[in-house]
Amino acid sequence: MNFYVLTLFTQMIDDCLGHSIIGRARKEKIINVSTVDIRDFSNDKHRHVDDYPYGGGAGMVMKPQPVYDAYKSLGLNGGERVIYMTPQGRPFSQKIAQELSEEENIVILCGHYEGIDERVIEEIVTDEISMGDFVLTGGELAAMAVIDAVSRLVPGVLGKEESFLDESFSNGLLEYPQYTRPPEFMGRNVPEVLLSGDHGRVDRWRHEQALIRTLNKRPDIFEKLSLSEKDSAYVKNYLDRPGTDTNS
Ligand SMILES: C[S@@+](CC[C@H](N)C(=O)[O-])C[C@H]1O[C@@H](n2cnc3c(N)ncnc32)[C@H](O)[C@@H]1O
Repeated sequence: MNFYVLTLFTQMIDDCLGHSIIGRARKEKIINVSTVDIRDFSNDKHRHVDDYPYGGGAGMVMKPQPVYDAYKSLGLNGGERVIYMTPQGRPFSQKIAQELSEEENIVILCGHYEGIDERVIEEIVTDEISMGDFVLTGGELAAMAVIDAVSRLVPGVLGKEESFLDESFSNGLLEYPQYTRPPEFMGRNVPEVLLSGDHGRVDRWRHEQALIRTLNKRPDIFEKLSLSEKDSAYVKNYLDRPGTDTNS
């Protein structure tokens, strides 16, 4: 899978995506992340890429021509997704990450200053994605979050020991709590069931924990679940006697 990032700060992307699982996947060429410096396409002798907004107001706006030429320099065929990172876009989610992980080429456009001239957005962008209802100084951190979340769903990126199958949002639930050695830490014990070696019990316990976590931490997600009879009964019992479910 190929990511092409159009940005004024290529170094940010190159520095941050060279480590850990994503760094390894890049080395093994399972994913490629290329950066294009929009400033290289400025046709102004001072390499300016921004200008004052028509109509007045604070800040500067990225000019359309360098952005368009940076995109054209990729030489893609035009059928690919071109994502503009913007607080005005669809909130990013695991579902969108899953959908994007099936693409071969993804172009990500990072804005800066007050944003980008609307005309080039209309011309080249297919999707607008937001990291959330807050405003960042630039699209780079948002682009990296998208690249990271999408890449780890690409076959071969996660090693055998790292799996996304039970993870939060993969089955509609938040993930169950995780524990590792030692069995006791500051007076807190690992739930007995996890030491039992009984895989059936462990699976059931994890599933119940995931239900309760989702109920408590993300009631908005919980509300949309359609629960089996067994799960409904479990949750009802928990709500009648909260705190009795957990570490058994
Ligand atoms: C300061 S912001 C511009 C915000 C714009 N004036 C507005 O109010 O919608 C500069 C750039 O940061 C990026 N950015 C800011 N917040 C973001 C968010 N929540 N999600 C994704 N990208 C964001 C976008 O690429 C944007 O063009």
